[in-house]
Amino acid sequence: MSKFNVKTIDDINVKSKTVLVRCDFNVPIVNDNITDDTRIKATIPTIKKLIKDGGKIVLCSHLGKPKGIFDRKLSLAPVAKRLSTLLKKDVIFLNDPQVLSETVKNLIYNMEDGQVALLENLRFRPEEEKNDDSFSKELASFCDVYVNDAFGTAHRAHSSTEGVAKYVKTSVAGYLLEKEVSVLGMLLEKPERPFVGILGGAKINDKLKIIDNLLDHCDKLIIGGGMAYTFLKAQGYEIGNSLLDETKIDFCLKMLDKAKRLKKKIILPVDTVASLDFPNPIDSKVHVQTFNFENFNKNYMGLDIGRESIKLFMKELDGAKCVIWNGPMGLFENPSFRLGSYCIARKLSELKGAKTIIGGGDSVSAVAMAKVTDKMFHISTGGGATLTFLEGTELPGIKCLNKK
Ligand code: 3PG
Ligand code: MG
Repeated sequence: MSKFNVKTIDDINVKSKTVLVRCDFNVPIVNDNITDDTRIKATIPTIKKLIKDGGKIVLCSHLGKPKGIFDRKLSLAPVAKRLSTLLKKDVIFLNDPQVLSETVKNLIYNMEDGQVALLENLRFRPEEEKNDDSFSKELASFCDVYVNDAFGTAHRAHSSTEGVAKYVKTSVAGYLLEKEVSVLGMLLEKPERPFVGILGGAKINDKLKIIDNLLDHCDKLIIGGGMAYTFLKAQGYEIGNSLLDETKIDFCLKMLDKAKRLKKKIILPVDTVASLDFPNPIDSKVHVQTFNFENFNKNYMGLDIGRESIKLFMKELDGAKCVIWNGPMGLFENPSFRLGSYCIARKLSELKGAKTIIGGGDSVSAVAMAKVTDKMFHISTGGGATLTFLEGTELPGIKCLNKK
């Protein structure tokens, strides 16, 4: 594991102090029902530690993108309820569309040691995403200690993730942030080898820096998903109506060249499961046909890796000691284009003694679909934050904390 050079909740004393804890409770909610509480569960160890140490704990988070306006559908009320259940303890919901008001501040002022409260969605305030100094100061005004445990939002420099730390002397990391940075940092510092990167997902434009940076660190890079077709096109293959970003062909050639120079491999699909049309709705049944790239029918679009590619990718993963996977191999929302992602997930679950790390977002869903979540070494709670970290960029939500 990599060394974490930021102070954590283990380095401070919170007894009778008011502790503002920034969490990432940006969870999927349908009709007031939380459909995946992974991110909430992931912060429980931090909250329990602060309760045990006798702090007055004020949790806060954003939810969705309300753009500075109150929206009842984006209230954190369901999260407060779920937290109470998980902690087996009453969590006071500071139900105020203004987030911080005199009433809320009074309630906080009267909290007892070990009590837990949750503020309303921070993004109901337009200042939050602007990292407005006055809001950062307002957040800082009622707390003695600031804890950032919102790894999933650590790539954002907002009032509650970055600005507030300027005005609170003791600003430290929670356990979730510490764990994420230790595991992901290990990949960029001293991974066990062979270290294989697997990248997928639709848009190559989202992954430019991570492709470039992972090439420096890993031994080989497997590329599937929608972004692979631009690489194949760059190599002169017919890709028909498959997803293509013309403007990134030069970039792909540069990366293929870089890999060659570094004596590393970029492994691309050799065949694809294709359809004449993009399924609409996304999970509807469509006619599919598999092509290899030597004889692709140009009326088709590739939507998953084919069986030969699966075999190739499995072989390249044999013996891997460290794997980071970000982005599905195909349109896995549709049963016809699911096999590639499914097989990768299963393969990772079978790698003996390997550190398998799932880099957030859709790959987490793919691993859940294959029912192998508990077989992975680490499932990141970040999406954009994980990508930004693996690009080698310092995250503002970490940079602002006290150094050890
Ligand atoms: C996420 O879900 O990616 C984080 O919570 C950050 O949310 P954002 O993309 O709306 O800033
Ligand atoms: Mg996002």
